[in-house]
Amino acid sequence: MSTECSCGEKPESAGEIIDLALLEPYIEQYGGPEAKDNLITILQKAQDLYGYLPTEVIVYIARRFGIKPTKVIGVVSFYTQFRTKPVGKHLILLCQGTACHVNGSPLIEDAIKEHLSVEEGDISENGLFTYSNVACIGCCSLAPVFMIGDKAYGGLNKAKTVKVLKEIEQEETSQ
Ligand code: FES
Repeated sequence: MSTECSCGEKPESAGEIIDLALLEPYIEQYGGPEAKDNLITILQKAQDLYGYLPTEVIVYIARRFGIKPTKVIGVVSFYTQFRTKPVGKHLILLCQGTACHVNGSPLIEDAIKEHLSVEEGDISENGLFTYSNVACIGCCSLAPVFMIGDKAYGGLNKAKTVKVLKEIEQEETSQ
């Protein structure tokens, strides 16, 4: 099935071209009679593909699944796991659960903000980082903790936070 608009052009978002064809294998897998039950799964797959959920993608999924776009938008808004803005190359998931909070996660957030000069959800100027506050990520014994990719960094303080960020920055510049 074509993924182009009726005007023949591919949709764009904030200057970038969103290749909706990438979604097709998942549409095939999760569409059909069970589509409504699979909505969260397809949204997760889409977010993995694009890094976030552009409006074009939300509308496309709604159309292909036969669901009203407002319903899909409602699901995206309800679950904090979904993002509707682009993110940096490395997404920092900063735990603000109880154990992390009482062990200093607000100070960790201050360190991230100061080092990267960003607010939550923004992309750092070098394009490398976005941070997001999240609920408990299941490693409370390491509190305070954040995750970057698949890796958890625990026992954080301001200095260790900056050290981790600098190490990633150095790895990126040496590539
Ligand atoms: S409260 Fe932070 S990992 Fe559980």
